Amino acid sequence: MLHVNENYSKIQASYLFTEIAHRVSAHQQANPDAKIIRLGIGDVTEPLAPAVVEAMHKAVDDEAGRKDFHGYGPEQGYAFLREKVAKVDFQDRGIDIAADEIFISDGAKCDCGNIQELFGNDVKIAVGDPVYPVYVDTNVMAGRTGKSENGRYPGLTYLTCNAANGFVPDPETAAGCDVVYLCYPNNPTGAVATKEQLQKWVDWANANKALILFDAAYEAFIRTPGIPHSIYECEGARTCAIEFRSYSKTAGFTGIRCGYTVVPKGLMAYAADGTPVELRPMWTRRQTTKFNGASYITQRGAEAIYSAEGQAQCKATIDFYLENGRLMKEALQALGYTVTGGGDSPYLWVDVKGDSWEFFDKLLKEANVVTTPGAGFGKAGEGYIRISSFNSRENVLEAIERLKKVL
Ligand code: MLT
Repeated sequence: MLHVNENYSKIQASYLFTEIAHRVSAHQQANPDAKIIRLGIGDVTEPLAPAVVEAMHKAVDDEAGRKDFHGYGPEQGYAFLREKVAKVDFQDRGIDIAADEIFISDGAKCDCGNIQELFGNDVKIAVGDPVYPVYVDTNVMAGRTGKSENGRYPGLTYLTCNAANGFVPDPETAAGCDVVYLCYPNNPTGAVATKEQLQKWVDWANANKALILFDAAYEAFIRTPGIPHSIYECEGARTCAIEFRSYSKTAGFTGIRCGYTVVPKGLMAYAADGTPVELRPMWTRRQTTKFNGASYITQRGAEAIYSAEGQAQCKATIDFYLENGRLMKEALQALGYTVTGGGDSPYLWVDVKGDSWEFFDKLLKEANVVTTPGAGFGKAGEGYIRISSFNSRENVLEAIERLKKVL
């Protein structure tokens, strides 16, 4: 008899954004003329940078001829991209990361989800609350938790992120944990962490032989000087951290799919008898077995992000989204709401002083505006909604007008 992985029965029936998509689609069906403005899932709306488009067209031409045709590529990514990443994202910023520590993938979501395969089933996992659901759900699927009780899974340690701690938890709250997921600029709260705060985490991880899984998918939105773009800006992070990066929000690649993970040489986990085991060869083994690499065309497109034109064009698009965020934040504050984020992040975290699903439904039904209810990101997200800055200026201005009417 075929047995299922019963850990799936512990998990909520549908993924947060799937549940929201169902509600939005039901609303649209009931109101076919409603012009719905989507500020829910963080999906980009602006087209790819011209430098990226040009590079991808050229890559298609390469594939069209015998001379420059590419079949299977290296599972870890082409050297042309890994070398650019290491230089521009790290070495030019004074960070010691080499090309062979970069693993190109089809996006940070997959890597964040897959990385836990490298760890023992008994490791103690800590996540922020509220949290990007992928960190939690993948550990539930792997059997590291019990069944959800009151919105939390026994077996996970939740690090409450709230207004009192500026949405950045303290390492003391992760006592006894082996792996901690940190995401800054944060999804969903839009909060950023200072160098001192991240250094404290790095020192804690090194002192406790623990590992930080640092999701830096939103680093390109940082504009405040001094806010770290990478965990490796902290001293000692090479021996206790893996970092995930994504081109989804940086360069509009949500549909193209590309990102990368940094696994430094010498980063260790431990066998049951205490023998140190290096994680980088394990991740190489995992990727070479289960992944065939991002496509050549995609990687040529990603490479173009690092050209002078590509950098300027991508920055201009991010500035555009940041301006959307600024406009919405100002409008919500004028309406009396307390808003976090919207400055160094594409997300606004709005204190709605009430039930977040009810508030979500009100905005959907009365304003035809889609947001994300904070409770969907965890218990501590209750009382908030998340608004994404990804949309056209026209839609953002229209959404602001509609919010003013209903709030
Ligand atoms: C979000 O809206 O939280 C993100 O778009 C989800 C993702 O990046 O997978």
